[in-house]
Parts: sequence; C-alpha cells; structure tokens
Amino acid sequence: MTCDGLEAELRTVVGEDHVHIGDAIGERYRVDVSRKYQSRPVALVKPASTDEVAAIVRLASRRGLSITVVGGQSGTVGSAVPADGGIALSLERMSRVVEIDPLSMTMTVEAGCILQLAQEAAEVRGAFLPLDLGARGSATIGGVIGTNAGGNRVIRWGMMRDMVIGLEVVLADGTIVSSLTKMLKDNAGYNWKHLLIGSEGTLGIVTRAVLRLRPIPTSRQTALIATERFEDAIIAMRRLEVALSGKLSSFELMWSDFYAAMTEAQSSQRPAPMAPGHGFYALVEAMGGDAVADNEQFERVLMSLIEEGLVADAIIAQSDRERENIWAVREDMTPGLTPLRPFCAYDVSMGIADMPAFVAAARAGLAKVYPDASVLFYGHAGDGNLHAIVSRGSMDTDIQRGFDTAIFDAVRDVGGSIAAEHGIGVSRAPYLSWTRSPAEIDLMRTLKGALDPNRVLNPGKLLDAM
Ligand code: MLT
Ligand code: ZN
Repeated sequence: MTCDGLEAELRTVVGEDHVHIGDAIGERYRVDVSRKYQSRPVALVKPASTDEVAAIVRLASRRGLSITVVGGQSGTVGSAVPADGGIALSLERMSRVVEIDPLSMTMTVEAGCILQLAQEAAEVRGAFLPLDLGARGSATIGGVIGTNAGGNRVIRWGMMRDMVIGLEVVLADGTIVSSLTKMLKDNAGYNWKHLLIGSEGTLGIVTRAVLRLRPIPTSRQTALIATERFEDAIIAMRRLEVALSGKLSSFELMWSDFYAAMTEAQSSQRPAPMAPGHGFYALVEAMGGDAVADNEQFERVLMSLIEEGLVADAIIAQSDRERENIWAVREDMTPGLTPLRPFCAYDVSMGIADMPAFVAAARAGLAKVYPDASVLFYGHAGDGNLHAIVSRGSMDTDIQRGFDTAIFDAVRDVGGSIAAEHGIGVSRAPYLSWTRSPAEIDLMRTLKGALDPNRVLNPGKLLDAM
C-alpha cells in the first residue's frame, strides 16, 4: 500500500476542493451515531458523478486502499465508519433528484440525497415515497439502500428493498453496472440488485436508484391505543388491517415501561397523550384518500375494539399538533434515553407470536448476569421487529458482551434474527452465526469473494469482522 502522490491523484479525479487529507477530515465522516467507533481514514473524497466514483475505486484498488462510503452516519452498528488508512467516500455532491416520472410513478435519485428531501420532492409532484424513519433528516438514499432500511411504514409498504426498481452501482474493480429501469417486473435472469441492497457497502457502491412512488395519501388518522395484554394488541392490529381496508400504515408497539419512561422524560415539553399504567401502548396510523369517510371509519373501528374489550383506551389526534405529540412519544427519544446512557440498543426480529417468550427470556437472561440492569422494549411489532434498550449505569466490553449474550440467546431460542433493520456492521458481526447457519455464511463468503476478492469495499464489516 502506498500513499505517495495519493492526494494529487485524487484531486485530478474530483478537483482541488473535494479531497481532504488526514486531520482535515471532519469528525462526522469518521464516526456514526453510536459513537463507538472512531477511525482515521487517509483521505475523504467527494466525487460528483458515477464516472468519478469508478475512477476513485480503480485508483484505490491499484494502490491497495479500501473504500467506505460515508452517508448520513445515522447507522448504529459501525457499518459506515471508514477503515483506518482507507478512503472515505462521501456522495454529498451526488444528491440530486434526477427525475420524477408521475406516470410511471418513479423517482430517479442520486445516492447522496437525504431521505427527507427525496420524500419532499416526491410530495411536491403529488407522489409519495413511503419509506420513513426517525433519522429521515440525515439518512441518505444510498445508506437506506445499503442497510435495506425499514422504519415506521413497513407494515403497509415494505422495506427499502420493496421500493427500489432500478439501481446503478460501481463494483470493486471500477465497473459501472447500471439498470435504471422503471418497470416493476423484470425476471430476465438473476436479480442482482437485491444482492446489493442490504449488503452494507461490501459488494458495490450504490450511486443512483430508481424508486417506486405511490399515489399520495390525502388523509391521515393517528391514534394512541392501550391494551392490557400483548395478544390483544396484536389481535387489534389484525382487526385494524382488515377493518380499515388496507389503510393501516403504522403500528408502533411500546411496552408499559418504555411508554412511562418516555412520557415522564418529555413531560416538561408536552403532556403525555394518555396516562401510563396500561400493559401496552400502540401508535396506530392509517392513510387514505377520503378524509371524511376515513376519519369516520377510523373512529368507528377503534370504538368497536374498545366495546369488545380488546382495547382499554384510545386517543385519536384531532389536529396536526396532537398527531405530532403522539408521534413524539415514539420519536423524541433523547430526553428519555439520556438518563440511561451509556446503553446498548438492539434491533431484533422474530415471529410475532414469539415476542412474549423472547421478552421474558431476555429479561430473565439479563437479570441473571446483571440484576441491576434495566431494559425497555418497543418497536415495529407488525414487522416482527423489536428494539430493546439495555442499561445499568456503566458500560465496558464485559458488560456489553453480557447484554449482547442475554438478548441474542433469547432471540436465537425463538428462531429470530439478531439484526432486523440496522445491519451487522462491526458490533453485530461476532453474533452473525447465532442466527445464520454455516451454509448461509459460506454462501455469503462465496458472494463476497466473487464480487470483491481484494477486499476493497468496506473492509472490517459484516463477514470481515466476525
Ligand atoms: C427506530 O425504530 O426508532 C430506529 O430503528 C432506531 C431505534 O430505535 O433503534
Ligand atoms: Zn426501528
């Protein structure tokens, strides 16, 4: 590996102002939101086109340097933290919405575009990009493709994978593979784009994508409901799916202690929408096309769930402000999480019916190793995806391993997955084999070896970190 003349060579590709070396590389390019991993990349490069990305990859490959794409750094597992001595590639100059096609209902967008800006650009044209998550203001399109992000509306519109129709990537040898098509159906051979989606930048660099848009919903109904039993919450969710004729878009479940901790910590900013003390709380949202009829239907369905005794209480937002207040319980987590720092955050998945067994086993496993540990559960229950926040006032590698073991043991026992939506990165890599078989991991290694034999792309992550 040689860095002589690297800066000059990179500048000839992207221009004088778009290469930063060593200490001139800002912190935000070297850490992710978990702040667990610091790195010292040799250079930060900001290309303006796919051709420039390809030239940088060829240059890095020739010099034996690695490349990690850094996006909004809203990742939590170290996936986009550059390798020491490698190149950090930022696509922030490739952030254009290239085209919105309202007839095909597609959006062609560069990978550096912030998710929220893509959502807003679609909305201006009367279309809807359904992917939505708390980090919408920082996460990039390339990042949400790289992790196959999920978020708040998967229950209705699926994950990022379900919205990517066309993809353009640069492979580890600098080859540009471009299939920016607009058709939903294309069964001509292997669908390679799905291999790249969710590969955390280890198989190729996503530069552009064609995304599927939907007609924009014109009505939105939001409620907070409470149930005493987990089963009642899930039965209520299934009933809402049917009774709202497919309009249920979010069902964010919160265990009692999560709800109490968040609303208590937020109380100086806004009153809790509902008193704590019920077993479970769920944020329920529907989206449709006829406000009067949809509001009436939403109210009627919730009322019947209360009359039946499935739902103990429900509050329907009557204004945008009330809607924001309900969402804030789930999304404005900083006040509630700050006193719990340092903590470990998990995103696991399992069959929905297995959630109570998982939660009980995780609590018991944690209590056995750290009786003073506290754990809060919440998540996208309709997707089988739970988040857990575990803390005990202090943290070191032993404590973290103890927490990881308790949570991942419990998830393995119910046949779930250690990573529902945030990926493997660095921190989950030691546990990949807990919920993936040896044959699956061998297949992953074969694919990585075929596409990136010299380990140019995002080394030290996923299989490399096991
Ligand atoms: C979320 O659902 O809020 C995000 O996945 C982040 C998290 O809570 O871990
Ligand atoms: Zn989540």
